[in-house]
Amino acid sequence: VNVTVNCDEKKAEISDHLYGIFFEDINFAADGGLYAELVQNRSFEYHTVPGRNPLREKYHALYAWQKVERNGGECTLTAEREIPLNRNNHNYLTVHIDKAGEAGVMNTGYDGIPLDRGAKYDFSVYARREGGISKLSITLETQDSKVCGKASVKGIDANWKKFETTIQSRITTDNARLVVTSENTGKLHLDMISLFPQDTFKGRKNGLRKDLAQALADLEPEFLRFPGGCISHGHSLENAYRWPDTVGDVAQRRGNWNLWGYHQTYGLGFFEYFQFCEDIGAEPLPVVPVGVSCGFRPPYECAPMDELDEWIDEAVNLIEFANGDTDTEWGSVRAEMGHPEPFDMEYICLGNEEHDRPELHERFPHFVKAIREKYPDIKIIGTSGLGTGIPLYPLMDKLNVYSSDEHYYMSPEWYFNNDTRFDDFDRSKPLIFVGEYASQGNTHYNALAEAAFLTGVERNADIVDMTCYAPLFAHKNHTQWRAADLIWFDKRQVVKTPNYYVQQLFSKNAGDYYLGNDVEVVREGKPQTISGSVGLGSWNTQIEAAEARLNGRKLDLSEFEQSSGDFDFSGGSLSQKDGGARPAISFSPKEFSGEKITYSVRARKTAGDEGFLIVFGA
Ligand code: AHR
Repeated sequence: VNVTVNCDEKKAEISDHLYGIFFEDINFAADGGLYAELVQNRSFEYHTVPGRNPLREKYHALYAWQKVERNGGECTLTAEREIPLNRNNHNYLTVHIDKAGEAGVMNTGYDGIPLDRGAKYDFSVYARREGGISKLSITLETQDSKVCGKASVKGIDANWKKFETTIQSRITTDNARLVVTSENTGKLHLDMISLFPQDTFKGRKNGLRKDLAQALADLEPEFLRFPGGCISHGHSLENAYRWPDTVGDVAQRRGNWNLWGYHQTYGLGFFEYFQFCEDIGAEPLPVVPVGVSCGFRPPYECAPMDELDEWIDEAVNLIEFANGDTDTEWGSVRAEMGHPEPFDMEYICLGNEEHDRPELHERFPHFVKAIREKYPDIKIIGTSGLGTGIPLYPLMDKLNVYSSDEHYYMSPEWYFNNDTRFDDFDRSKPLIFVGEYASQGNTHYNALAEAAFLTGVERNADIVDMTCYAPLFAHKNHTQWRAADLIWFDKRQVVKTPNYYVQQLFSKNAGDYYLGNDVEVVREGKPQTISGSVGLGSWNTQIEAAEARLNGRKLDLSEFEQSSGDFDFSGGSLSQKDGGARPAISFSPKEFSGEKITYSVRARKTAGDEGFLIVFGA
């Protein structure tokens, strides 16, 4: 293959944010994944989850907790709501300790708590008491009760108070548990029982698991789309992702059930997403719901028009939260969280693959109008919908949004064949954001298909502005999306797929321009037996010479019958007629079969066209 690149011919400018990542809390990507919290169900808010996931019924307020009774201590556990920690954090644990000794509760985290020898862990808890309890013992221990590390907190009284301590582990283990006990009798009320490794990504408090966050950073993404996906618009409006619930003190955040069948603490919330973007140099691309729930899952719900302002205000306020001065309502929340400087958010994504229904058409324009009125510089990314048919693109075009987000999960063959997808897109319409795509597998073949597709994206970089693969993460023991995920992990390991390396290759080597080029292929065929026709498939290609020999005798191409009208044989060589284009041609030998043939083909990609494929065989 000879490739000639014409450095003076800038065919398309490649956007400086063509390659990014899309994070959604699916496959336990957030709690139990990227979010470094080691305690599961820390605020006792788990409950049976609506929807279709068969696992949903296993959840309850004391999920992942067990009572501990040692040295004569006896207790029972209940989940209570009478005097909650605050109005967003309804449930708490009550340990009724009837007999003195050692009594309390343990948590096994997400499939056991991994600890490293010498590493430090930050423990915190909210506690109050009825009776004589004033001190708590905090132990990290192995499954066979070997103590890895120990600490205590004192001064518990009748009011909710936060207690914090640090524990250093003496042991490396994959399967520890956190044990919280008291030696006295009485009622002990506990909430927000939390354990974090100190060694988080960039050492952030309430931070991210270092290895997983580093795997994302190593992709060098130009943007981060978050938090979904379907979890943005929700299974029903009840669990749409409402960003104000996810900021402020973690103890004040109102968790929610997850459309994928489990729970979200929102400990990883919008502040943490923005901060992570800053930490890895990625543009934040937050997705906000537009008051219409997921069309795939009943109930399909839409916010009544007279209540739509609440949803619109929330979208507009997000811009104030990210960029507003510290004396604004939402800018001050950001500042209190430790980030007085603006996050310099430039884009907002409205909706996620909503269905092409009248309710959406009625609601969507109100969001666009309100954002443009208050923040004319913010770039609005609309949604084209799920599938290659991009049903909502006409609406996005009418609203003249900055770009429109299209999603498709297709076979590898589709990606190979659709490197030409954008060639005919109308350049006067909104830019394209390929916000979710994957070729339904994690084999090398899948990765190759995605790479082929991305070559077509780069050739069309004048209209394709951004791309990102989906889903990003999958916990190997807790998946809802098994077909293909970019990074697989468990509590210890991170496995990068071939698809990951394709994303990394393109992202790290994104160019400034797609340059004019000329590709010449010289292909020597091996002797083979003809049975039937000889095929020469060409895709907008100039065939410069094609030669075939039968048992050493050079064949005149007139010995073949041409089955496509797009080619000439004149002069013993084969060339494409003026204006001739795809599809492939095939030749049937006139007079022979079952004999050895050798062949060679010289071909050149025709300027301005999209590529070629040659197959010459029997
Ligand atoms: O990436 C998984 C899901 O696929 C997303 O939540 C949704 O947008 C799409 O249908």
